[in-house]
Amino acid sequence: MKVLVVGAGMYVAGRGTRGLGTILPALAQASRAGEVRGVTVVATQPENGPLIEQAASRVNALLGTSLEASYLSLRGTLAATLAGLHFDCAIVCVPDHLHFEVAQQLMGLGIHCLIVKPLTPTLEEARRLVGLQEARGLHCAVEFHKRFDEQNLLVRKAIREGRLGRLLYLVVAYSQRIDLPLQTFRAWADRTNIFQYLGVHYVDLIYFLTGFRPARAMAVGTRGVLDGRGVKTFDSVHATVVWQGAQPGEEMITQFAVGWVDPASTSALSDQRFVLVGSEGRMELDQKDRGVTLVTQAEGIESLNPYFSMILEDAGGAPAFQGYGYRSIERFLLDVGDVIAGRVEAKALEASRPTLRQSLVSTAVVEAVNQSLRAGGEWRPVDDPA
Ligand SMILES: NC(=O)c1ccc[n+]([C@@H]2O[C@H](COP(=O)([O-])OP(=O)(O)OC[C@H]3O[C@@H](n4cnc5c(N)ncnc54)[C@H](O)[C@@H]3O)[C@@H](O)[C@H]2O)c1
Repeated sequence: MKVLVVGAGMYVAGRGTRGLGTILPALAQASRAGEVRGVTVVATQPENGPLIEQAASRVNALLGTSLEASYLSLRGTLAATLAGLHFDCAIVCVPDHLHFEVAQQLMGLGIHCLIVKPLTPTLEEARRLVGLQEARGLHCAVEFHKRFDEQNLLVRKAIREGRLGRLLYLVVAYSQRIDLPLQTFRAWADRTNIFQYLGVHYVDLIYFLTGFRPARAMAVGTRGVLDGRGVKTFDSVHATVVWQGAQPGEEMITQFAVGWVDPASTSALSDQRFVLVGSEGRMELDQKDRGVTLVTQAEGIESLNPYFSMILEDAGGAPAFQGYGYRSIERFLLDVGDVIAGRVEAKALEASRPTLRQSLVSTAVVEAVNQSLRAGGEWRPVDDPA
């Protein structure tokens, strides 16, 4: 398959970090099995060209692959930039507020799309994308990789087996280092907020785990640290979302404390944990501390998560890019391969993938939370897209 990637930033190729990102290594890994034949990256700045070239050659050297990756600077519209080129699918990885515009153009060209979270900031945009996708018979999904984390699959199993009883409440604490809004995402941090950019992961996860539908939401936030350093956005957002189960009166309350002002010296990029309590049990997950701590003179203390996305060698010394971040992208590539070959229809994947239609749920919650933040914390109904 020929794969288009729109965006050349941190998540694609590790811009501004010591790492190589997630998307480019995943595509190189997939090229090993023959799923990917070549990659074209499109973004706005010409200086991304050398960055992509260097990242691809580092990835190829580490994995022993020979992925061909080229770079194109955006000239005029995306459709004009891509004129005369053919792609089997695309991965959209641009700032949150541009997901709609980019995905709409690609889907208009009949290209299957994987879009990084959040799908879009508004339900209206997300619904338009679903309409376009269904009209064109495309397979499109959101890269909600937490659905592929074994820890979360274990929670889903415990819920389904009834071990927790009736679900009552869930509390999430999720935060990232301050250098993300101050440096890495400075160009667009004031166009999003930490709930929309990060909290959305757990909104989708709660829907995936429980199948409950969101009913209403309220949110307040703290400000001042980032404002004082020129990035006009909330330091943290504190949201309560009430969900409705399948049975009448079956309500679950979830609370989110999400922030991005953690010290740059904290031991992991993401601090993330949640507790889920039901009438018959409780489950606690520390998703930052996976039990691995590395302390070095050079880097200090690091809490490493070997399960997300990393190049690791097997016992025989063969390196592979692996983890739930990889599996999420691999799943999309395999699905697109099946759809193109006629082995499966796109709509048959609707029930079991983080499709655009499934992602209307998290988009609706993001929209209600954003409305509540603007209204000083008033409750807002969630416009359930069911
Ligand atoms: N799933 C995850 O865990 C995860 C992690 C990080 C970021 N993200 C999401 O990925 C998206 C991008 O994040 P990032 O970390 O790569 O950000 P980044 O700021 O490092 O990169 C953004 C890239 O988009 C490009 N770009 C901007 N406007 C464009 C346009 N109109 N057309 C084409 N390219 C354009 C820029 O040139 C840049 O290369 C965001 O929506 C973010 O929320 C997801």
